[in-house]
Amino acid sequence: MTDPILKLEHLHKRFGRATPARDFSMTVERGEFFTMLGPSGSGKSTVLRMIAGLEYPDSGSIVIDGRDMTSVPPWDRHLGMVFQQYAIFPHLDVAGNVGYGLRRENLSREETASRISELLTLVGLEGYESRNVNQLSGGEQQRVAIARALAPRPAILLLDEPLSALDEKIRREMQDELRSIQQRTGTTFIYVTHDQEEALTMSDRVAVLNEGRYVQCDRPEQIFHRPRTPFVARFFRGCNLLSADLDAQGEEVRMTLAGESLMIDRRGGARTAAWWRCGARPFRSGPLLRRRGHRQVTG
Ligand SMILES: Nc1ncnc2c1ncn2[C@@H]1O[C@H](COP(=O)(O)OP(=O)(O)OP(=O)(O)O)[C@@H](O)[C@H]1O
Ligand SMILES: [Mg+2]
Repeated sequence: MTDPILKLEHLHKRFGRATPARDFSMTVERGEFFTMLGPSGSGKSTVLRMIAGLEYPDSGSIVIDGRDMTSVPPWDRHLGMVFQQYAIFPHLDVAGNVGYGLRRENLSREETASRISELLTLVGLEGYESRNVNQLSGGEQQRVAIARALAPRPAILLLDEPLSALDEKIRREMQDELRSIQQRTGTTFIYVTHDQEEALTMSDRVAVLNEGRYVQCDRPEQIFHRPRTPFVARFFRGCNLLSADLDAQGEEVRMTLAGESLMIDRRGGARTAAWWRCGARPFRSGPLLRRRGHRQVTG
């Protein structure tokens, strides 16, 4: 097993009364599509900005590719970043924008042109070199931003809600394409979203954040089928949680819910209460989430 590409250790960050990172520790493996999912204000962007070096933690450490980068400035971290707003330069054409990502690479003119064309093919904009960026659609502009961020072959690409300004249909297409770009380049992606479906269908692992902590970090199937807390279960739409009483009787447990009782397998030791989850709706595609129905949520 190789060393992780990123290790966050006990990060703490406070802004006045907000604490977007509380003793936040997390590990991301090389080549993973890793997503941070959580409600607005849970600290997703702050954690991402600390990884990028756009904010510094009050305490804790950030190790990228084996090097302590906690106080290294952003331009020396060898990371790429894509934001919600298409941060492209309106005065440069498409090739100029993508080539901007190569300015520190010391490439010849031919090498630059060939790398730009390779990147444009990767993001589905083959032949767009001399196009004016102001005449591109939102989705196309975001592809230019992605190509530019990938140009210097960053160790990690950080993406903060990059698709949320796009309409539904384009967003779905771009989700599939982003996943494919990630797999074809083998780049580690750290992706921020508050869209549950997006997180579950695109990612290798998902960290669900709440109030500056992550409450569960797991594969999408586990997050959806085995939420570890009521918060995680409730975070998925179409899901109702009912409170139940448990009474352990030997190998079995009697569960009482809304005045009715039933016997269930003994799980989770001597608990006296549980949550019962009903009717969580499975998502669009992928190998996950095909099963419908009821699940017990521990905790
Ligand atoms: N520069 C800042 N100064 C003061 N408070 C900040 C700053 N950046 C973030 N915060 C606060 O930290 C908390 C977490 O913010 P953050 O932007 O990380 O959340 P988020 O999970 O990305 O939310 P959203 O989904 O809305 O983008 C919020 O309460 C926010 O107001
Ligand atoms: Mg944010």
